[in-house]
Amino acid sequence: MKTVTILGSTGSIGCSTVDLIKGHCDKFKVRALTAHKNVALLARQAQELQAEYAVIADKDLYGNLKEALKNTTVKVEAGHPAVVTAAGLPAQWVMAAIVGAAGVEATFRAIQQGTTVALANKEALVCAGALMIDAAQKYGTTLLPVDSEHNAIFQVLNPARMDQVKRIILTASGGPFLRKTRQELADVTPEQAVRHPTWSMGAKISIDSATMMNKSLEIIEASYLFKLKSEKIDVLIHPQSIVHSMVEYIDGSVLSQMGAPDMRTPIAHALAWPERIATTGSTLNLSNNLHLSFEPIDLTRFPSVQMARQVLQAEGGAPAVFNASNEVAVAAFLTRKLKFFHIENVVEKVLQNMKINSPSNLHDVFSLDQEARRQAEGVVAGMG
Ligand SMILES: NC(=O)c1ccc[n+]([C@@H]2O[C@H](COP(=O)([O-])OP(=O)(O)OC[C@H]3O[C@@H](n4cnc5c(N)ncnc54)[C@H](OP(=O)(O)O)[C@@H]3O)[C@@H](O)[C@H]2O)c1
Repeated sequence: MKTVTILGSTGSIGCSTVDLIKGHCDKFKVRALTAHKNVALLARQAQELQAEYAVIADKDLYGNLKEALKNTTVKVEAGHPAVVTAAGLPAQWVMAAIVGAAGVEATFRAIQQGTTVALANKEALVCAGALMIDAAQKYGTTLLPVDSEHNAIFQVLNPARMDQVKRIILTASGGPFLRKTRQELADVTPEQAVRHPTWSMGAKISIDSATMMNKSLEIIEASYLFKLKSEKIDVLIHPQSIVHSMVEYIDGSVLSQMGAPDMRTPIAHALAWPERIATTGSTLNLSNNLHLSFEPIDLTRFPSVQMARQVLQAEGGAPAVFNASNEVAVAAFLTRKLKFFHIENVVEKVLQNMKINSPSNLHDVFSLDQEARRQAEGVVAGMG
């Protein structure tokens, strides 16, 4: 049996992972599950999967979780340091699925275990990409991308033949506002923005998909994961979300991976790798009049994609600042303190104004993250 830990088990990716593990309970033994505040779901998952540990990041909820698991053998811990410790408990496979920079430390700790880490927490790679990749190399950790685009590329890319790769192409659904002009975005609400046309996801990534900031973060993620410069990473709009990404080789061959828009496919791939297991999710019906279309991305309509390329060229701490200011702007939009189309302006202003040093360790990354958040909050307040 493979021992597994799920960081962020109560989220969208976490729940899909739990669902797959429940469908293959003879193959997996759960070491630890973690959540932020959702005590009820964490307790239920811990009981159903007979987890050894359940860890809640909000330390004030320790008593609630202890009470919810009082008649079980599950060990209960609480607080951010306990989440990081859980990430380092011996496990053969760790799902890093905490959302945002909040997951950086736990993801890094999992990588330091020298095990297999399934990486959904793209923000960790964006904030501290070089440090994460160096640590994976140093500790002999296998990093398996869970983001559907990166997982697709992982499946069709031959890392020993990178000189024969012309480019990789990340596909983007375009989100709920693909056909809206920038003017029409003036009054969109959080409820409209989280309603993604093809994927069911957590609130933050749903907003990132609507602004295309998600694709921007993914360009940075792909650059670190596959060691590619920005010029070799293209983006194409593909509204059906069936072709999850492609690799174009110098002989003109374009290899892609397809599947239903259901995260249980890439998660199942990472869970069983290098083997395969049956998904518990939906699968593609190829005989159902499947129509696939692709179109170029309008960079004036989605300026964050260009910003991501500049951030990658600047290297150093710029990606961490890009990520932190976006997180503040998204949170402000979700709480109705900021207009949807001002999200990119907040990020742009912080990148322009902040003096950005190159981080040499996680402590430096957190300092950059904190300063970027402080400045982004100032920009949001000025726009309100
Ligand atoms: N959802 C997708 O389809 C998808 C696809 C590709 C990549 N991703 C990436 O996967 C990651 C997770 O996304 P998601 O959509 O699953 O997010 P989500 O539904 O919002 O879930 C986030 C998870 O992280 C936990 N969490 C939040 N803040 C935390 C904190 N400060 N400390 C510890 N744990 C915390 C949450 O706990 P509570 O439930 O208790 O709040 C929850 O378990 C993101 O990085 C996202 O970009 C997601």
